Amino acid sequence: MRVITSAADVARLLDAERSAGRTVGLVPTMGALHHGHRSLVERAVDECDVVTVSIFVNPLQFGDPSDLERYPRSLDADTAIAAAAGASVVFAPSVSDMYPGFPAPVATSVHVAGLGERWEGASRPGHFAGVATVVAKLFSLAGRCRAYFGEKDFQQLAVVRRMVVDLSMPVEVVPCPTVREPDGLAASSRNVRLSATGRIAARCLHEALAAGCRLVSSGVRDSAAVGHAMADMGAAEPAAVLDYAVAVDADGLQVPDELLGDVRLLVAATVDGVRLIDNTGCSVPPNRPPGPRRAPRPSEQATMERGALI
Ligand code: PAJ
Repeated sequence: MRVITSAADVARLLDAERSAGRTVGLVPTMGALHHGHRSLVERAVDECDVVTVSIFVNPLQFGDPSDLERYPRSLDADTAIAAAAGASVVFAPSVSDMYPGFPAPVATSVHVAGLGERWEGASRPGHFAGVATVVAKLFSLAGRCRAYFGEKDFQQLAVVRRMVVDLSMPVEVVPCPTVREPDGLAASSRNVRLSATGRIAARCLHEALAAGCRLVSSGVRDSAAVGHAMADMGAAEPAAVLDYAVAVDADGLQVPDELLGDVRLLVAATVDGVRLIDNTGCSVPPNRPPGPRRAPRPSEQATMERGALI
């Protein structure tokens, strides 16, 4: 596996690979790789001939300078993980290579209106413009490719998909399922900053999602009722400060009056000063013709109570 730090070099290499008939996979990351990232790399390796993992802590997407400062950096360990997962290239550019002139503001940036402005976008102004700008640059350098993104950051995935469509980028965006810890917490580079008690409190995020999912799967179509039920679960955990808990349509991420078809449940909360996000997909069952409804059988009840997360 090669480690490349120059943007020009990686673009040249991937052009040459494509000319030789090989397909290119790209996995954009900010490093501090864990098994969630690894699952993306492994999927890319299964589906593409040459897989590049980019590792770049992108200053444009951090509003808070101390958050950027504290972001874990572990290039040697990351390189070993990427190699073990079968990547061919790690692309680890410097800030000055990606943004000559930084910290002077970049003149050209990508702003995905609407989608990039709600939920995480509202709580972290400028965040998704930073994400879209760096991802657009990485796509430009990589050229025609498949790019792998985690559903863990569902709004980010939606923003990137929208950018690709709107700007006709030659990239196929591949969504990958969220990888969780055994206790259900979504794997994240931020989890290491949780105390032992914070770690337990953080379970309220996926418990809220499971509660929301149970309601949607049982036919509740009132988005506000689902949102409130999730928020109540969050509020029951005193160590968590809930930011939002909403049931939205899976494409535009807007709250409809009535939930229909594919629904996404989104939650964000702060625990121990660490911002955590999570989400899950569920679908509203089709309208049943009126008629007598039977109570669920005990085996069905158990499945509903487990509230399996996707
Ligand atoms: P980062 O947080 O390092 O995440 C890189 C990729 O890994 C993203 O697509 C993210 O959704 C995915 N990922 C993280 N945790 C995951 C989990 N538990 N299960 C599945 N996938 C997971 O997201 C970013 O970096 C940056 O914003 C980036 C897109 C690289 C732009 O700077």
